[in-house]
Amino acid sequence: MQTQLRTTTCGALRPDNVGQTVTLCGWADTVRDHGGVMFIDLRDRTGLTQVLCDPTEVPAEIWQAVQTVRPEYVLQVTGRVEARPADMVNAKLATGGIEVRSHHITVLNRSATPPFPLDDKEAERVSDELRMTYRYLDLRRPAMQRNLRRRHAVTQAVRAYLDSQDFTEIETPILTKSTPEGARDYLVPSRTVPGTCFALPQAPQQYKQLLMVAGCDRYYQIARCFRDEDLRADRQPEFTQIDLEMSFITPEDIYALVDGLIAAAFVAAGHPAPTLPLPRLTYAEALDRYGSDKPDLRFALPLVNVGEIFAATQFQVFGRVLAGGGVIKALNGKGLAGAPIRIMDDWTAMAKDAGLGGLAYIRVQEDGAWKSPIVKFFSDAEKDALRAALDIAAGDLILFAADDAAVVNTALGRLRLLAAAQAGVIDPAAFALTWVTDFPLFEADAEGGLQAMHHPFTAPCRADAERLESEPLSLRAQAYDVVLNGVELGGGSIRIHEAAYQRRLFAALGMPAAEYEDRFGHLLRALEYGAPPHGGLALGLDRLMMLLGGADSIREMIAFPKNQKAMDLMMNAPAAVSERQLRDLGLRFLAAAPSE
Ligand code: AMO
Ligand code: AMP
Repeated sequence: MQTQLRTTTCGALRPDNVGQTVTLCGWADTVRDHGGVMFIDLRDRTGLTQVLCDPTEVPAEIWQAVQTVRPEYVLQVTGRVEARPADMVNAKLATGGIEVRSHHITVLNRSATPPFPLDDKEAERVSDELRMTYRYLDLRRPAMQRNLRRRHAVTQAVRAYLDSQDFTEIETPILTKSTPEGARDYLVPSRTVPGTCFALPQAPQQYKQLLMVAGCDRYYQIARCFRDEDLRADRQPEFTQIDLEMSFITPEDIYALVDGLIAAAFVAAGHPAPTLPLPRLTYAEALDRYGSDKPDLRFALPLVNVGEIFAATQFQVFGRVLAGGGVIKALNGKGLAGAPIRIMDDWTAMAKDAGLGGLAYIRVQEDGAWKSPIVKFFSDAEKDALRAALDIAAGDLILFAADDAAVVNTALGRLRLLAAAQAGVIDPAAFALTWVTDFPLFEADAEGGLQAMHHPFTAPCRADAERLESEPLSLRAQAYDVVLNGVELGGGSIRIHEAAYQRRLFAALGMPAAEYEDRFGHLLRALEYGAPPHGGLALGLDRLMMLLGGADSIREMIAFPKNQKAMDLMMNAPAAVSERQLRDLGLRFLAAAPSE
């Protein structure tokens, strides 16, 4: 990275370079006065180099200038590369074998005192708000630079891989029409067509389908998406998808392609490629065994259906549930028998929050005795069967949930994660990937109506298609997710490519014809002109980077993220606009902007 202002970078010099005269540019990371000699660690994106400035070796005006240097001043340093004395070698630093003895230093710029130390070790103590307000300083930290570089390496690898698979990268509009991906839209009022709005895309879903109709065969885009939804550690209002679509395929083609894509991303991020093909679970299996459609498979801890064991139970709670068509499941928290009361109280509260009446448990003591408020209701045969089904041993904590399957799965699915964390069985360096396949096409919404589980362009499994009107909730979709460490990394489906079936599906969702023709007429029309069978998927790039980088929030992987209130604290956006701008758009706000 030689330029007119420097001959090399701050991370490049090694003992081999001893004797050379070099010019470096960078930021003063630390400034130390050692008995009249100044030591400055000069930092740039590539690393740190120790610079030494001795008043007897530089002109007086340079020495004077060096005396003013504070952390984050920008310097240009020319000097000779020297080997450090043996006892001064810093093995932790790539450049730790050398230092640069300066004969010229120019202060290129001064810096105000940073609002927080630009030190990776200190960063955890700095509030997220302060880091986001001064994001350009936060990003100077080596850890954040590494995150940006790793993201770049992954996007480069993704592009190279998809190019090698004959994909075409195509950009699609940001100013577009509302898309049904399930979140609220960000709207942009139009000046030229008063009274109307563009919506920012929640995903390029319809465009990529239209590109298939257009004969593009294989499309991808590293696409920005916008969703006005409640933020969490793995959600941002604007985020990036690796979005792709292919023609003339089945789900198998997607699995094979995306397996290779994920492997390429792992390697680009410096991890070993996962073993391919990635494992697969059906949605039904995932819920049954792990209580979740995004199971964390870094550990086993399966949910075990113990309903049959309790077919003739004396325990009323279990008996009532079975009689009502519910299920009883248990999980064995190995080694957790001694879990403190406080934890059991938390877990019980969580189980109740998930809709369970309570949380029955057995603590298996060191002598093998079962301590539990409910075992008095169990027969010896039931105990033996439980012991076998759950592999019960001394030190175990058995948790039971009895209710409707959905409630039991939600409650035990969450408890499974808490129990694994409590037992310390999650290897933070492990990666567990899986496909989850055969999602249902629909789910019941809060008002008892139907809603598309993925999106309303998703095709059902062929064998189920004709039950659309008669038994909609029984339809399986040709839809799949890819899950990494319990996080939904991506999802997609085979699409409906026939206009008539797409109309039937909109109608099944309860949409009047006038409405779907108005909202989706463009897509329906396109499907009438020889749309090829097609399907695709989108991976959340920010989530992928978060997991590959071992971070706990996607914010760490986004150069300029938004805070919990979807605000950019650095730019101070969103912000009030002038009366004039509003008038041009024909808008008037009912609420005033908060004052500064
Ligand atoms: P979906 O809505 O499942 O599918 O999104 C795909 C992936 O995008 C990521 N993602 C997010 N990442 C960060 N912040 C968010 N708010 C956010 N929302 C979603 C997730 C998710 O798995 N058009 C379809 C894809 C298709 O059918 O091809 C779609 O957008 O990692
Ligand atoms: P009760 O008979 O209501 O006092 O409950 C006895 C035990 O069963 C308590 O430990 C409750 O927490 C637990 N329990 C109650 N309802 C359920 C349920 N639906 N699933 C699992 N355990 C339950």
